[in-house]
Amino acid sequence: MQKKTLSDITIQGKRVLMRVDFNVPLDGEREITDDKRIVEALPSIRKVLDNGGRLILMSHLGRPKGKVNPDYSLAPVAERLSELIDTPVIMAKDCIGTEVMQQALALQDGEVLLLENLRFHPEEEANDPEFSRELASLGEVYVNDAFGTAHRAHASTEGITHFVQTAVAGYLIEKELMYLGKALENPERPFVAILGGSKISGKIDVLDNLFSKVDTVLVGGAMIFTFFRAQGLETGRSLVEENKTDLALELLAKAEQMGVRLILPEDVVAAPEISPDAPFHAAPVDQLPAGEMGVDIGPKTAETYRREILAAKTVLWNGPMGVFEIDNFAGGTVAVAEALAEATASGATTIIGGGDSAAAVAKAGLADRMTHISTGGGASLEFLEGKELPGIAALNG
Ligand code: 3PG
Repeated sequence: MQKKTLSDITIQGKRVLMRVDFNVPLDGEREITDDKRIVEALPSIRKVLDNGGRLILMSHLGRPKGKVNPDYSLAPVAERLSELIDTPVIMAKDCIGTEVMQQALALQDGEVLLLENLRFHPEEEANDPEFSRELASLGEVYVNDAFGTAHRAHASTEGITHFVQTAVAGYLIEKELMYLGKALENPERPFVAILGGSKISGKIDVLDNLFSKVDTVLVGGAMIFTFFRAQGLETGRSLVEENKTDLALELLAKAEQMGVRLILPEDVVAAPEISPDAPFHAAPVDQLPAGEMGVDIGPKTAETYRREILAAKTVLWNGPMGVFEIDNFAGGTVAVAEALAEATASGATTIIGGGDSAAAVAKAGLADRMTHISTGGGASLEFLEGKELPGIAALNG
């Protein structure tokens, strides 16, 4: 996907309207608990400011459902961004309207205005043309750097491109496409994908798309139990998608037919319930007690997966191996994260497909030891499914 970028346009003295994904997690005190998405937008932000542009940033935060709700204000982001760039960030009260237009027109070279949450207006998610036109009128050039929102055809990501002449990608989108795109199109081999998560149904399209590209798939997460049920094993109280067992068998057959090694766990961590105080033990997959459920891959599997990861040149990981939010059930996920860190150190390219796996790597304290951690959860998943991302497709080629 060859798109024009920030490097291809004139910035000096221009009002640069940039869509970013500042949808960051906040705690009860409205403190930002992870500012990765802000930090990852800094190269584009700095480029505009260093080149004398007048920057107008816009984003959504959470899902306020089209209503103004102070709990979803971007004000904490303005504060954090201002600290990071050591420059004042003017916080607008809204994202459209006369006052915002005046603020945009009053900007001087090197100044920054952050618009209030786009999703306070239902027209944003409805991709309303009039709302898109109003947003577009704030800037002279449009930059999309919101990789995490690129799978949404919303007014600020897709609709707006119909009302501007210049619509280019920012450096974060460029970087995400470089790592994710290269892994899919031209990976160094062996190429190993690790797929976790609770449901096969959420990962079928990824598996389908990856089968034609990878050498090996290591499977973890509760979705393994749908495979095991299909193979006639006892799955106890584990999460099973009863209506997807045929699909599980089809996926196994397809992997074999396409020469992909699809590896399922040999052992799991079993517990009577998902609770931090629950007793737990490792069990071979054919000896899971009927009254218990699998909550993680077991230690033997973790060791096998580690060997596979260390033998790879490209590793792509999407979805945790177990209920990693509970320390007793995080062993498999942490072992995989550690193996990836080791693989990176030995020269492999390791890519984390955002969302839960990114959170798991951060929790394990290994975030800076991966080649690339995507800022997109849903967006990276759709990219891995081989789908076109509307926010990127709409940019100038
Ligand atoms: C994300 O966090 O995945 C993006 O910011 C998109 O948010 P959404 O799922 O609410 O559209």
